[in-house]
Amino acid sequence: MVEKFVVTPWEVSGKVDYDKLVEQFGTQKITDPMLKRMEKVAGELHFMLRRKIFFSHRDFDWILNRYEAGEKFFLYTGRGPSGHTTLGHLVPWIFTAWLQKKFGVELYFQMTDDEKYLIKDMTTKQTTAFAYENALDVLACGMDPKKTHIFTNLEYGKTIYKQAVEIAKHVTFSTAKAVFGFENSSNIGIVFFPAVQAVPCFLPSVQAGRNIPCLIPAAIDQDPYWRISRDTAPKMGFYKPAQIHCKFLPGLGPEGKMSASDPASAIFTTDTPQQIEKKIMNAFTGQQPTKELQRKLGGNPDICSVCQYYYFLFEQDDRKLAEIFAGERSGTLLAGEHKADLAERVKRFMAEHQKRREKAKKVLDKVMLKD
Ligand code: TRP
Repeated sequence: MVEKFVVTPWEVSGKVDYDKLVEQFGTQKITDPMLKRMEKVAGELHFMLRRKIFFSHRDFDWILNRYEAGEKFFLYTGRGPSGHTTLGHLVPWIFTAWLQKKFGVELYFQMTDDEKYLIKDMTTKQTTAFAYENALDVLACGMDPKKTHIFTNLEYGKTIYKQAVEIAKHVTFSTAKAVFGFENSSNIGIVFFPAVQAVPCFLPSVQAGRNIPCLIPAAIDQDPYWRISRDTAPKMGFYKPAQIHCKFLPGLGPEGKMSASDPASAIFTTDTPQQIEKKIMNAFTGQQPTKELQRKLGGNPDICSVCQYYYFLFEQDDRKLAEIFAGERSGTLLAGEHKADLAERVKRFMAEHQKRREKAKKVLDKVMLKD
């Protein structure tokens, strides 16, 4: 039976087959020679690359070519501020902070308070307020405040709108419809919105008066937007933006990604230690229903949300990770201790993150772009 899964900018559900997604989306897989090259240029390899959590790209090799030829790129990523930040959002942001540090580059971060207003039952006041909450988490991931520029589309509207209009002129309705599946019932705000998300791919080039390569680290569900951006780039005389795509941190349940709109599946950066503990102790594991059976038959780390959390964030040492997976598989590792250990690690991580999040309040004003 073919398992059904859906990946669009607005919905991720089912068990995602990432190989199939690369084929469907027409992106490239990140190859081992490419990682070798990356390691040479950056001086080390981030564990998210080593583990192929970042697994797919468009033109990433071109970015490295330009960089080695002495041409710096800038980073662009973003967030749809529909709620508080989850651990899932932190995956690409932690990696983005690493890229920024290793390459010494500027980061433009778009908060789409307009997009979330258009597709959710929320007011603009709410989405903009969440943008500010989320921005604290962005900074807490270790972005360099001097090289990081965060903006909400609504507050940076004058600058954004001018570029968006210039992009929109080159995108037909039939293209947008084919890429995003818009229907007659779609509101026209969201039909125009892909032009808005494309703006930061080019804005730094417009402002500098010369072309600067753009690299977008983000989860793969955003790829449809970049198809539009890449189509319009040459028509406007810009470089096509390059991408590096990551997988989704699974939710705490048996299926699907961690989603802010399903609070039981998600750990928020604003959760208390008690909330974190409770959610993890209730998480889905790949283990047998009883201790006795688990000891006898062993479990399956590939479907175990607890194992996946170690893999994505909480055990960066490959040897130790292999031990945890082997314990789960052979049945020596039991669900209770497995969850309790993860809960400890997540609580420790979050205590540190929340401290940095508090500190970020002092620099936030300097980092936000407005017009
Ligand atoms: N549309 C994205 C979301 O809903 C937000 C976003 C805007 C974004 N620009 C981006 C995400 C660039 C990644 C990279 O989450």
